[in-house]
Amino acid sequence: MQQYQTLFTELTNGILTVTINRPDKLNALNKDVFTDLDNLVNNITNDNTVKSVIITGAGSKAFVAGADITEFGNLSIEEGKQLAKRGQDIFNKIENCAKPIIACVNGFALGGGCELAMACHFRIAADNAKFGQPEVNLGLIPGYGGTQRLAQLIGKGRAIELLISANMIDANTALQYGLVNYVVPQAELLQKAISILENINTKAPLAIAACIKAANTVWDESKNGFNEEIALFGNCFGTEDMKEGSAAFLEKRKANFIGK
Ligand code: COA
Repeated sequence: MQQYQTLFTELTNGILTVTINRPDKLNALNKDVFTDLDNLVNNITNDNTVKSVIITGAGSKAFVAGADITEFGNLSIEEGKQLAKRGQDIFNKIENCAKPIIACVNGFALGGGCELAMACHFRIAADNAKFGQPEVNLGLIPGYGGTQRLAQLIGKGRAIELLISANMIDANTALQYGLVNYVVPQAELLQKAISILENINTKAPLAIAACIKAANTVWDESKNGFNEEIALFGNCFGTEDMKEGSAAFLEKRKANFIGK
């Protein structure tokens, strides 16, 4: 596994825990973090030893407190668009990764941090987590997919209120809104994610990838999700794992999936 400038990675039993490591800047997303996240998704896609991924932030205070505001400087309109495009490309890559990526939100998830968490396949929050899109405080809007994913995840009314008020919501409100799947004490956050992924990692990898792809199609206007599902369902019958899964069920034994 490649070394990163801003990320710590640790691989245990197929679960890669990725920690964004700029705690003195509340893990704000600068150019280096973007480069590392971009490379990370390429690497995990190509690394057979990685079955699933946890993304979290270093320290006990923040997941990610947003894009690094010091890099906004005097960007031109064109440079602003390029920055948003770069962020969106990387977050789309996370969302479309064939391996499950879940966010463990261990504190502030603001701006680009909330957008990063929303690009992951689902989210678990520590009880001290706080979510928000405070860009309007800076005369900005979210640029890394936040206006879209927030409305997808929590509905238009709640999303627009959060976007235009810059209000933060706490972990329990995020749970009530459907932004996160679980809220746990901070000390138990990673263990909760690990126990969920240990179960997921016993399932057929190609079927997992197909579930992610099919579910993402709901928001892809260029595709018909039901047709996509038919194609992906059919493809499963061409896999060794589908034959193994069915045989194991009928033989009343545990399936041994190989990802083929
Ligand atoms: N970009 C760059 N640096 C950031 C940052 C960001 N998004 N968020 C925090 N930091 C830095 C602070 O400048 C500070 O650095 P310093 O010690 O060199 O001064 C350090 O991280 C700690 O943050 P601080 O503001 O002192 O912590 P706090 O507990 O008082 O407040 C927050 C925490 C999250 C409420 C506050 O940092 C904040 O509002 N951050 C910006 C959030 C935001 O607007 N994000 C969207 C960006 S588009």
